[in-house]
Amino acid sequence: MVRDVTLDLEERISVNRKLLEHHKVMLQLCTKLEKIADSLPNISNIQECLVICRDLFPIIKSAHNFEEKVLFPILHDKQQEDGGLKKNLERLRYEHWEDESFAEEISDVFNAYINEPIQSDAEKLAYMLRGFFEGVRRHIAFETEYLLPMLNKAS
Ligand SMILES: [Fe+2]
Repeated sequence: MVRDVTLDLEERISVNRKLLEHHKVMLQLCTKLEKIADSLPNISNIQECLVICRDLFPIIKSAHNFEEKVLFPILHDKQQEDGGLKKNLERLRYEHWEDESFAEEISDVFNAYINEPIQSDAEKLAYMLRGFFEGVRRHIAFETEYLLPMLNKAS
């Protein structure tokens, strides 16, 4: 079934704004994770770390749900002839899945470290955190450069 995905200017601005809001929240999270990775094996604010452990997956999942259920269908339906777009959306979906798995794993390892801070675990955790936030930043940069201009044309 072909959906009617005609967007008026107001809808386009709304989708654009929501994507940027999700990106902003994720980038703020990345900044916090980088500070934590830099300070390990020390943890300066246990309460903040516990909150991050709790919120990491939901924040990432919420952004991905918006992109996959709202943004990607708009772009896909509007530019079906674009084979490059189809491949890029598949790649982004795959990265979402990877980041969600990674977020869950980090929350578990981080929680365990907060409860029992062992030096060797600190190195592993710092490595995981860096891999995660660097990947998320790259992903967001690509979406900003590649998807946002397409959305702005999807009228
Ligand atoms: Fe994404």
